[in-house]
Amino acid sequence: MEGLHPDVESIVLSEDDISQIVQRMGAEIGADYEGRNPLIVAVLRGAVVFTADLMRAIHCQLGVDFMAVSSYGDGTKSSGVVRIVKDLDTRIEGRDVLIVEDILDSGLTLSYLMKNLESRKPRSLEVAAFLVKDIPGKTPAVHPRYVGAHVPDAFIVGYGLDFAERYRNLPYIGVLKPEVYS
Ligand code: PRP
Repeated sequence: MEGLHPDVESIVLSEDDISQIVQRMGAEIGADYEGRNPLIVAVLRGAVVFTADLMRAIHCQLGVDFMAVSSYGDGTKSSGVVRIVKDLDTRIEGRDVLIVEDILDSGLTLSYLMKNLESRKPRSLEVAAFLVKDIPGKTPAVHPRYVGAHVPDAFIVGYGLDFAERYRNLPYIGVLKPEVYS
């Protein structure tokens, strides 16, 4: 493996950890959705890396589509007010839909998305989140059916997660050095 990026102080999940998590989630999802041709809905941009790996670990027939949302916040915290920037190209009425997210923080983005997609009358609607942030004293607004790992409330980047659009291409999840963002 290449050395640690100089802006990263420690690794939370290595490439091997990630691969094991993805294989486990893919096997579980594949078994649950066998014969149902689910539509995987990836939420741009962060979920792209995880989605690309996860869909190859799911061995049942599936489709994939993308949504882009933008949340009105201060740039670091989401406000819960979400705007659809790119909608699905696929009709989901009567379809089994699985939303794939890279990280669930407050859960506000997902909570909005679930309400929005629910109104289109899918047959089922579930969430696969690669990471769930554990914030002491706070319960997320959404409980994903499939969770990769719980992570502490630190500034993490990599495997799709960015800071100012950087670091998404790191193959691991790491903690950003505070001097980079402060
Ligand atoms: C991140 C992440 C989730 C959301 C989670 O997206 O991908 O969509 O924030 O936060 P929440 O649970 O507090 O709502 P971001 O808005 O940073 O966009 P990105 O995917 O393009 O990085």
